[in-house]
Amino acid sequence: MQIKKGTEIEVRIDSLVYGGRGIGEYEGKKVFVDGVAPGDKVRVSLTRIKPRFMEANLREVLEEGAVRIEPRCKHFDVCGGCKWQFLPYEEQLRVKEQQVRDSVERIGGFSGDLVGEILGCEEPWFYRNKMELSFGPKGMLGFYPPGYHYEVFDLEECFLQSTQVAEIAAKVREFARVNGLEVFDKKSHEGFLRNLVIREGKNTGEIMVNLVTAPGEFSQKEEFVRLMEGVDSVWWTKVFQEEGRRTRLEEELLAGKESLVEKLGDLKFDILPQAFFQTNTKQAEMLYSLVVEAACLKGDEVVLDLYCGTGTIGLFCARQARKVVGVEVNAAAVESAKMNAKRNGIENAEFYLGSVDSVLGELPKADVVIVDPPRSGLGEKVVDGVCEFGAARIVYVSCNPATLARDAAWLRERGYSLEGVKPVDMFPQTSHVESVAVLSR
Ligand SMILES: C[S@@+](CC[C@H](N)C(=O)[O-])C[C@H]1O[C@@H](n2cnc3c(N)ncnc32)[C@H](O)[C@@H]1O
Repeated sequence: MQIKKGTEIEVRIDSLVYGGRGIGEYEGKKVFVDGVAPGDKVRVSLTRIKPRFMEANLREVLEEGAVRIEPRCKHFDVCGGCKWQFLPYEEQLRVKEQQVRDSVERIGGFSGDLVGEILGCEEPWFYRNKMELSFGPKGMLGFYPPGYHYEVFDLEECFLQSTQVAEIAAKVREFARVNGLEVFDKKSHEGFLRNLVIREGKNTGEIMVNLVTAPGEFSQKEEFVRLMEGVDSVWWTKVFQEEGRRTRLEEELLAGKESLVEKLGDLKFDILPQAFFQTNTKQAEMLYSLVVEAACLKGDEVVLDLYCGTGTIGLFCARQARKVVGVEVNAAAVESAKMNAKRNGIENAEFYLGSVDSVLGELPKADVVIVDPPRSGLGEKVVDGVCEFGAARIVYVSCNPATLARDAAWLRERGYSLEGVKPVDMFPQTSHVESVAVLSR
């Protein structure tokens, strides 16, 4: 059979690779497919043909792999949120741990024995502290299916959000329907309602609601505020656009207090509507505790917290270090970090706005460097800069095992040895995996 784009073939899925795609083999070539489980026999249609691998779209599952289970949520087929629901949680953990081990071995050239057992979630459902829903035509409020930018499906159930959050979403949906509020149309740029963002302090019980709209008259504002009675912080955010591109936001506090308070360990964090905060509160506490443990602080160290976001990791370390210096490129996050230091009475932590690659030379010498970069990792230039500090330990928090393994290999060339890697599951039911790696000189 001549193989070309669109050709349909049958393939058995051997395993899942980083990013969540399944991998099988056809006539000596690897085939990558989305939406499949290990052991599945599937019919797929080829979309890309390369000398060593092919990519394909799933057409039909011919035989289900033994590990498959019935997805819990009725929206599984359309929603891109929980794509691994068809795997039991133990199997999700096994696959994630193996993916980290594979990256460390194949990309980094290290022994896979350095990878420890994955730290799973006690509760693999209802863990999200933030839900961002989109309004759609005919009173719908839900998510865009993967690959769709204009059509929202109505979210009737979601096992990642709490009942309280679901109830607020249902109330707002009804409010929009009853009042006949127009939904913003991404094509014509007309209409009003865009998103509903609900945040929940899992350890404090506080709730923040942010109604995001296009600029315009909100004549039912008072009624909306009454509807949100009991919510700790109610915001209205207007998104301004020019030629289809966001130019600025205008935020108005409608009721309650400005920020939502969340507790991690014994620290309290003020979270403003636009600020980044780890979405799985319980696992964030576990992750940060692991980082502090890995840093082996005795009290007299200078610690750098690079890519510090709202300063959570640095603040977790501050009481056990002489000084913490955080660097972050997002101005709102740096403001939050400073605010959170003050709120917790921490005086030995400083946070600076800047891009890590351009400010490394201006930072003090450090005993411990903690890095938590985006998926693209550090890159060789930042690895070089980090090595200049001569720190005894580097703690590397990573959301991408491939770039972690690559960077760890560069650090090895410059005198650091990898002591261990601990995978952590922050996002059950998805293919994402976080890791904490420790390197020492
Ligand atoms: C994975 S998050 C980590 C945030 C924080 N450590 C936490 O746990 O909440 C990565 C952070 O790096 C920031 N960032 C991305 N590129 C950066 C750069 N070149 N320099 C400094 N910060 C950067 C992002 O804004 C984001 O806050």
